[in-house]
Amino acid sequence: MKSRTSRLDRFISQNSDFSMADTRLLIAQKRILLDGSVAHSIQQSVTEFTRVVLDGRCLKDNQPVYIMLNKPRGVVSATRDTRHTTVLDLVQHPRKSELHIVGRLDLNTTGLVLLTNNGAWSRNISLPETKLEKTYEVTLSKPLTEEYVAVFREGIYFGYEGITTKPARLEILSDYTARLSLTEGKYHQVKRMFGFFQNEVLSLHRVSVGRISLEGLDEGLCRELTAKEIAVNENR
Ligand code: URA
Repeated sequence: MKSRTSRLDRFISQNSDFSMADTRLLIAQKRILLDGSVAHSIQQSVTEFTRVVLDGRCLKDNQPVYIMLNKPRGVVSATRDTRHTTVLDLVQHPRKSELHIVGRLDLNTTGLVLLTNNGAWSRNISLPETKLEKTYEVTLSKPLTEEYVAVFREGIYFGYEGITTKPARLEILSDYTARLSLTEGKYHQVKRMFGFFQNEVLSLHRVSVGRISLEGLDEGLCRELTAKEIAVNENR
C-alpha cells in the first residue's frame, strides 16, 4: 500500500483556495492545526493520516484503523472469496473496506489476525528485521522430543526458497503440544518445520504478535487495538 505524503504548503494549495505562498501567512497567524497542534513550518509533512484543520474547518481527517480478530477454522484470510467466509466478513467497522490483512493464516489455522489501513504499520510488523515474535500453539500427531528444540533454534533449510529459517523458540508443553515463536512468516512455515520430522500438525492457533495477545477475545470476534498495542513496533 502506497503512503501519500506531501509538504504542508503544497497540501494547502491543493485543498483550499489559498496558494502555496499564502501558507506562510496562515502559519504566522496560527490558522492551521496539524493533529491538534498549531503548524509551524511550510515544510511540515502531511501524511495520509494527518488531520488538517484550517480556520476551524477540517480539510482532511483519515484516521488509521487497527483491528484484531480471533479467526475460526474454515475462515479464509482474504478480503474477498466466493466459497468461504472471509476474515473481513467477521469485521464490523464502518471503514472495513479500506482494511488489508497483516500476515495471513491458513484456512484451518485459528487465532490472531491483524487488519489495518496503515500500510507503513503492517510493513513494519511483517519485516523479519523488526524481529517481532509471532507465537503459535501447536498440536502434533506424534510425540515431541528435545531434538526439535535444538533443530528449530539452529534453523531448517527450505530447499524450495533456498533459505534457512531464522532461530525459532520451541517450548514443549506436553508430549503432543508445544508453543512456537517465529520472527518470520514463510509460506506454511510452522507445518513445514514440523514436516522436517514427518510430524503432522493437527491444530495450529496463533496466540500473539509481539505484545498483541488474543487473550480475552472469543473466537469469531474482533475489536480495535489499544494505543499500547498499536505501538507494538516501538520500544521493544
Ligand atoms: N504457519 C503455517 O504453517 N500456517 C499458518 O497458518 C501460519 C504459520
